Amino acid sequence: MKFFIDTANLDEIKRVKDMGLLDGVTTNPTLAAKEGGDFRKLIASICEVVQGPVSAEVVATEASKMVQEGKDLASISEHVVVKLPTTPDGVKALSKLVEAGIRCNMTLVFQPIQALVVAKVGATYVSPFLGRLDDIGQDSMHMLQSCRTIYDNYDFDTQILAASLRHPLHVVQAAEMGADVATLPPALFDKLLNHPLTDIGLEKFLADWQKRA
Ligand code: E4P
Repeated sequence: MKFFIDTANLDEIKRVKDMGLLDGVTTNPTLAAKEGGDFRKLIASICEVVQGPVSAEVVATEASKMVQEGKDLASISEHVVVKLPTTPDGVKALSKLVEAGIRCNMTLVFQPIQALVVAKVGATYVSPFLGRLDDIGQDSMHMLQSCRTIYDNYDFDTQILAASLRHPLHVVQAAEMGADVATLPPALFDKLLNHPLTDIGLEKFLADWQKRA
């Protein structure tokens, strides 16, 4: 399973890269707006650090404008993956960008039928949003499992990118369901290795080591 970081913050990206855990980056307009400045420059700097897939999302909502914006974003770096909302216009834009050889990540996916449609059209990634479904009391893991089954039934190449993850159990469950990628907010990387018995065990080992003969 690949790990992407879900942020546009360069310091966080560098920090997680130093942990040796970083395969790529996802951003969205909310995350990019938090950083401010010029969006193209920000994406270019992220691509220099990561050297892996970096999702940059369009903000246009009409298909032809999404295509234009997508092509512009893709011209920033070979690492850019154009992120499009899974709307009828988004899917139309997807088909044009796929024709142009541009990789796309289809975002805001909340049901398996959306995942089926974008795979048929040739998305490189599909992003089911797990946490936001859980937030409204729906079973996100059931949705993810259904996406996996559909993709396996038809041998689709589209990679399932589990998004909107809130806690380590989401990552574990997404791995159990066979998600290809998980995108984690920066703070979640720190929680992956936390276990009180690890800390207690280490403390005891070090204390015993001090007492050696
Ligand atoms: C994915 O690509 C999205 O940027 C992200 O995972 C959304 O997460 P949120 O629901 O925590 O905002």
